[in-house]
Amino acid sequence: MCGIVGITGNKNAVDILLNGLQRLEYRGYDSAGIYVNSQDGKEYLVKEKGRIDDLREEIGADVHGTSGIGHTRWATHGVPSKENAHPHVSADGRFFLVHNGVIGNFAELKTTYLQDVKFASDTDTEVIVQLIAKFAKEENLATKEAFKKVISLVDESSSYSFLLMDNQEPETLYVAKNKSPLLIGVGNGFNVVCSDAIAMLDQTHDFIELVDGEIVIVKPQSVTIEDPQGNVIDRKPFHVDTDASEVEKGAYPYYMLKEIDEQPTVMRSLIKHYIADDGSVTIDDTLLDSIKKADRLYIVAAGTSYHAGLVGKELFEGLTKTPTEVHVASEFGYNPPLLSKKPFFVFLTQSGETADSRQVLAQVNKWGYESLTITNVENSTLSREATFTLLLYAGPEIAVASTKAYTGQIALEAILAKKIGEEKGISAATSFDVAHELTTVANGMQELVDEKSQYEQIAANVLATTRNAFYIGRAIDYDVAQEAALKLKEVSYVQTEGFASGELKHGTIALIEEGTPVIAIITGAKTAKHTRSNTQEVLARGANVINIVSRNLAEDGDQVILPDVHSLLTPLLAIIPCQLLAYYTSLQRGYDVDKPRNLAKSVTVE
Ligand code: F6R
Repeated sequence: MCGIVGITGNKNAVDILLNGLQRLEYRGYDSAGIYVNSQDGKEYLVKEKGRIDDLREEIGADVHGTSGIGHTRWATHGVPSKENAHPHVSADGRFFLVHNGVIGNFAELKTTYLQDVKFASDTDTEVIVQLIAKFAKEENLATKEAFKKVISLVDESSSYSFLLMDNQEPETLYVAKNKSPLLIGVGNGFNVVCSDAIAMLDQTHDFIELVDGEIVIVKPQSVTIEDPQGNVIDRKPFHVDTDASEVEKGAYPYYMLKEIDEQPTVMRSLIKHYIADDGSVTIDDTLLDSIKKADRLYIVAAGTSYHAGLVGKELFEGLTKTPTEVHVASEFGYNPPLLSKKPFFVFLTQSGETADSRQVLAQVNKWGYESLTITNVENSTLSREATFTLLLYAGPEIAVASTKAYTGQIALEAILAKKIGEEKGISAATSFDVAHELTTVANGMQELVDEKSQYEQIAANVLATTRNAFYIGRAIDYDVAQEAALKLKEVSYVQTEGFASGELKHGTIALIEEGTPVIAIITGAKTAKHTRSNTQEVLARGANVINIVSRNLAEDGDQVILPDVHSLLTPLLAIIPCQLLAYYTSLQRGYDVDKPRNLAKSVTVE
């Protein structure tokens, strides 16, 4: 959440900061700002409510510099406004700070130390920059020491990545992080800082990861990392292969559509990375051994990734016969279940940075249990902190609503479950030709994404003006209904519920009235008849029913027909029309589908 960028040693600082922020806009987009220093006595602080384009308009031709910091905000403390936008500046005008995260004890710090300071914003961040200025002045501390002192006062519950500038040392960026992502990008004669490598891929592909608690001093020719005791740490950069063009929209009007269309490619890429030519799955034996030893799997995730976990339960139980529980990370954190004797934890996370999931992983590590993170982001925090990682190789997902990461996670769960089940001698797994099945899925996905006009039409007829909507299904179709509902509500703001179709009549059916859209997912042979009879119940009460049905179960009048695939993989196809319905409904209602209100891509606060 919130995007952070910084640069030192490059005369194009303004452009580099703004372009970087534009690429990070998906992490928060309610206000933005930059501070730049020209090193010849000139400095500029420009902030604006709204998007990066709004900020660009505020930046006059005179604004220039060779070092600077920038921020795009997802509000936590204080409404979205110019005053609350970052960078925040100390009352004496010396220090400038951008921050991602939340300072748990900001109110106490303010009361204890800053009663006499006049604040310009309602943010927790401003407390930090005012404190740095206070300690620098009153205790005559050097900037690094004042910064360290303030960090030592921030309580355990806090999360932060800080990027600080002192206009008395305008070439230097002071950096620190705790539970929030931040990377140093190494350039030729200049260096950059960013909360996500994609912000700076046009400047460098070499990044240094930071560890919580370190202080980093970045200058044009040097990066000095110090551990909390002040020891200098030597850490080599890692290389990010992603091409800068992969984070561009190309000919697409929106990232969400591009990413929906990329799903067949994601399936093929997973086959390429995890399945050898002879059809055998290639996954590290130590990971497989750890999972095989477990008596129960605990999948922990949030949002769409949690929904991918629900399908994962079907896959792991169906193919490996290992009991599997799926937990919402934010609930598990404070209300963990009774664990089995030999648990194994699977974290599903597109970004690898979700604070709720990180909190559970930290607890799992304290307990001493092994874990796997399935993520799209190499070197992300959850990837580094888990025992094992499997990557999705889906390419960057920029649209805030997750699409290809969801299907990628399910496909990778299928590959993993196949391998474990096969090694355990489970017949459902040995007969499951995962490469063949996922190839059939990829072809089926292609068929669906090639038929966009029908979804646009259904959205216009059924969803464009409705107040609310339901997705219903049973068993694995219920898993999809929940994800389909999340997709529709988050980008179109139509209040939508994903419901177990049999449960509808136990109360919720009271909400069905003339014209209420009810979209039924029907891919299970055992449950099809029952879901159809639930659609009859809502039809009788005036609902506008749309059926999304597997070809082998289709009947006259069904509106969307899905190509047939293996019964455990039907979510991979059933979700595609739902993603497209969400996409078109959002556009028809006049919204920015890539950046829905109130949301941000990587949710790094609790
Ligand atoms: C919805 C969406 C979110 C994320 C959730 C977890 O489209 O993207 O619900 O799935 O915030 O994020 P990750 O997967 O990055 O842990």
